[in-house]
Amino acid sequence: MLPAAILALAPLLALAQEEGTITGPTTSPESLGYSCDPSKCKLPTCNCASTSPPGGIKPSDTPQFIVFTADDAIQSYTLDAVNQFLAHRKNPNGCAPKMTYFTSLNFTNYTLVTDWFVAGNEIADHTMTHVGTPPADEINGNLIALNALAGIPLNKIQGFRAPFLAYSADTLKLLYQSQFTYDSSAAASVPVTDPTTDAYWPYTLDNGMANNCLSVPGTCKGEPKLPGFWEIPMYSFFDNKGAAGPHLMDPWLDAANGATKANDSATLEYMQKTFTDHYNGNRQPIGLYTHPIHVSLTYPGSTTTKSTVAMINAFLDWAQEQPNVWIVSNEQLLDWVQHPVPVSQLDSVGSLKCSTPQVDSSMKICNGMPGNEDGLLSHCAFSDFPFYTCYGCPEVQPSPNNPNPPQQVPDGQNSRFRLPQNCSTPFWDPIGGKCICTSDKCAFADNSRPIGPNGVNLTGGGIGGAFTSASATPYVPFNGDVSTAPLGLWPALLVGAVGALIGSMGVLTRL
Ligand SMILES: *[C@@H]1O[C@H](CO)[C@@H](O)[C@H](O)[C@H]1NC(C)=O
Ligand SMILES: *[C@@H]1O[C@H](CO)[C@@H](O)[C@H](O)[C@H]1NC(C)=O
Ligand SMILES: *[C@@H]1O[C@H](CO)[C@@H](O)[C@H](O)[C@H]1NC(C)=O
Ligand SMILES: *[C@@H]1O[C@H](CO)[C@@H](O)[C@H](O)[C@H]1NC(C)=O
Ligand SMILES: *[C@@H]1O[C@H](CO)[C@@H](O)[C@H](O)[C@H]1NC(C)=O
Ligand SMILES: [Zn+2]
Repeated sequence: MLPAAILALAPLLALAQEEGTITGPTTSPESLGYSCDPSKCKLPTCNCASTSPPGGIKPSDTPQFIVFTADDAIQSYTLDAVNQFLAHRKNPNGCAPKMTYFTSLNFTNYTLVTDWFVAGNEIADHTMTHVGTPPADEINGNLIALNALAGIPLNKIQGFRAPFLAYSADTLKLLYQSQFTYDSSAAASVPVTDPTTDAYWPYTLDNGMANNCLSVPGTCKGEPKLPGFWEIPMYSFFDNKGAAGPHLMDPWLDAANGATKANDSATLEYMQKTFTDHYNGNRQPIGLYTHPIHVSLTYPGSTTTKSTVAMINAFLDWAQEQPNVWIVSNEQLLDWVQHPVPVSQLDSVGSLKCSTPQVDSSMKICNGMPGNEDGLLSHCAFSDFPFYTCYGCPEVQPSPNNPNPPQQVPDGQNSRFRLPQNCSTPFWDPIGGKCICTSDKCAFADNSRPIGPNGVNLTGGGIGGAFTSASATPYVPFNGDVSTAPLGLWPALLVGAVGALIGSMGVLTRL
């Protein structure tokens, strides 16, 4: 008999597939209505949706980027899963590849968020409790909690992906108001070999959206206009059914070519075919968009097979044998798009460089570096999902209407100090409340974001408890103007109900 955990996983697998599944083109020339004047829309702050590389760079001088992303909870199991694909690799400049983690807080182990970030990866927002078409408090609450409990600087949380890829025009507007740099929830759903391809390089919404025109009401035909805000399309793979056989997230879970079951050799074949179409064409990025829990071999009850893991590694091995192929995070991709240089000058791109913070390894400091922080973590023993953090346990689990609860201070200890605006994560000592950075090389300045209670700018720092429901300033996003919230509320409630149903089926809801 199958262990209960495997049975519990089955419906989740189905839903994760659903999350990233598209079955055909999500846009058409008629639904597009896009126009953009490249002589007015100029890098680095504006970029027209285009299938050609940015800045007029020739395709042969353009790096072939493979964007690696993961969604949902950051835990030992999910980081093990990502590491089995990336930890042993190097980019052409000899540096370790980085990736983007769209983090939801349910089941997340905050200290591992800190570690992953300090190791150079990008931490991005995927709502607190994993709801589609999210209201502002789900999006902003996640930013606040990631800053308070994982010590991620506010200006480093730049990207968002909607759970279930369910976003609306209002979602994009909320992101813009909260000063996000980009969204990456929209699909490129027509092959690059098709003249009507929607595989645009990342573009700004100065002239509205150009993807998902058939599936997201109120977008495209010039809407929504959000100057300087980027969309990084998610690029599909296509099996031998072409435009009728798109595979977006976790392609290894999908059946291909009209078959009824997933088949690793067939998946590898079409992933290579699509890669080659991009590589020999305009070099639009390729994306590996993963739900790592579904390829984790360490997760108890995992149904992943070693052959699927080996297949994904075989794809990356094969891709990396070709010249000018780079595995990157969205943040790195966007940095190059904003400041494009030919492959011969990639050494000058700061975000592609190796970066290891220089902290004395014998120092006892809770800073996101495993050797340094050993023995210094707080264990927050909540029954739903216990976690560890450097920044002191909150009295209650953070939630959208209370994203930064007061701190629970154990007898005989002091409150821990949250990351302030003028110190970067690996140099901040949350126990001593001091910054160990003393040179210009590690100097740091965070931004504030307009996501605090009643419209105040959030700056980080403090010890928690800034906006409990009992305090004089309960957390109300956007200056008490909740007029934007109801727009997203209905779908959020619906998806919430589905989420609750799935939650009741098993121990895990990490979609
Ligand atoms: C949470 O993090 C701690 C500290 O790194 C680690 O010991 C523990 O195994 C992690 N648990 C999970 C489920 O991620
Ligand atoms: C996430 O956690 C919250 C708080 O424990 C809970 O109310 C919610 O149902 C959870 N959502 C999912 C999708 O597990
Ligand atoms: C799996 O895919 C390969 C490659 O396309 C094919 O040769 C093989 O017959 C497929 N196996 C099954 C069981 O469908
Ligand atoms: C950061 O700011 C605090 C007060 O705002 C100040 O006391 C401290 O010296 C500053 N630290 C650094 C490293 O600049
Ligand atoms: C928040 O910061 C912005 C600049 O980013 C500033 O214009 C605005 O006045 C600040 N708002 C408050 C309430 O401090
Ligand atoms: Zn998700």
